[in-house]
Amino acid sequence: MTLFLALETSCDETAAAIFDDALHIRANVVASQTDLHARFGGVVPELAARAHLQRLLPVLDEALRQAGATLQDLSAVAVMNTPGLVGSLLIGVSAAKMLAVALELPLIAVNHIEAHVYACRLAAGRDIFPAVGLVVSGGHTVLFHCRSALEFELLGATLDDAAGEAFDKAASMLNLGFPGGPRIEKEAAQGNSQAFRFPRAFLHEPRLDFSFSGLKTALLYTIRQLGYSPGTDLPATLRSDLAASFQQAIIDVLVNKCAQALDQTGLTRLCVGGGVAANKTLRRALQAMCDQRGAELFVPPMSLCTDNAAMAAMAVELYQLGQFAPLDLDAIPTYRPRRALAISN
Ligand code: KG4
Ligand code: ZN
Repeated sequence: MTLFLALETSCDETAAAIFDDALHIRANVVASQTDLHARFGGVVPELAARAHLQRLLPVLDEALRQAGATLQDLSAVAVMNTPGLVGSLLIGVSAAKMLAVALELPLIAVNHIEAHVYACRLAAGRDIFPAVGLVVSGGHTVLFHCRSALEFELLGATLDDAAGEAFDKAASMLNLGFPGGPRIEKEAAQGNSQAFRFPRAFLHEPRLDFSFSGLKTALLYTIRQLGYSPGTDLPATLRSDLAASFQQAIIDVLVNKCAQALDQTGLTRLCVGGGVAANKTLRRALQAMCDQRGAELFVPPMSLCTDNAAMAAMAVELYQLGQFAPLDLDAIPTYRPRRALAISN
């Protein structure tokens, strides 16, 4: 049995996972920094990097303990080296390199965004590609044509804010706190999603891109027009109606673009990953859309939706192809979508 260690430090979760070549997760440990950043209303990069440094070794120890393994049992070390906050990524990348050198193991580089889609494969326990892949997180909103587990073609992406970022900013305007997604979801459950008609960018256009900045501005102007200041307390009913209407606008766009991607590609499977995929109203709407088309929906359980290291299990596929990373592997902050991977070279 080949055992893999994976590290994740791209944003504000310090994570380590152990899995085997049959894609069984032996340990999936995540130390969240939410409390550390909450009072700043967003992730503070310097604080995040320092916390990764403090937490990575205890998290790694805990992963080994849960898996009942030692460092000597490992066959490869994987790390998500892109995209993310560069100072945060560097902690994971440096640790992974150090372990690879010390233990004389191959190093495997995994793309964090693609790993969010791979979480669906991991959770399904069977091959699910080709599929349309949607990643909706705090930093990214991306649609892929996933030809295989390692061949991701970009179909569209957000031109400005990511969906999760929009949720976080809206929560701050509604004085709901951080992180915004779960707070908006909870608030929206009490509200009327038809109370306000917020913009839905590109809804009826064939392009598969997204834009959420107009929606964010619309919420800001609406709050002001109603005579309130953004970030202050609003009457409860108004606040929940605004949250519900805002959430509905994002869901309508995400569901509609996934439907268009399925129709345009002729694919019958949809994989959705990233923190926003934890939203139950979104899941229900995606399920209804897929049912209508006879398509299959794959959404991982919550623990594999938000940032974690187990989703780096696509390292198993890279390992089997001998796709190892050099020891001068960089931490790359911006997302560079790959068109065709080495598998076709
Ligand atoms: O994938 P993730 O854990 O980290 C990034 O790579 O960004 O995603 C975090 C994002 C945050 O913006 C958070 O507000 C959002 O996912 N999120 C949600 C929910 N849970 C987390 N958005 C909407 N509804 C949720 N239930
Ligand atoms: Zn993520």
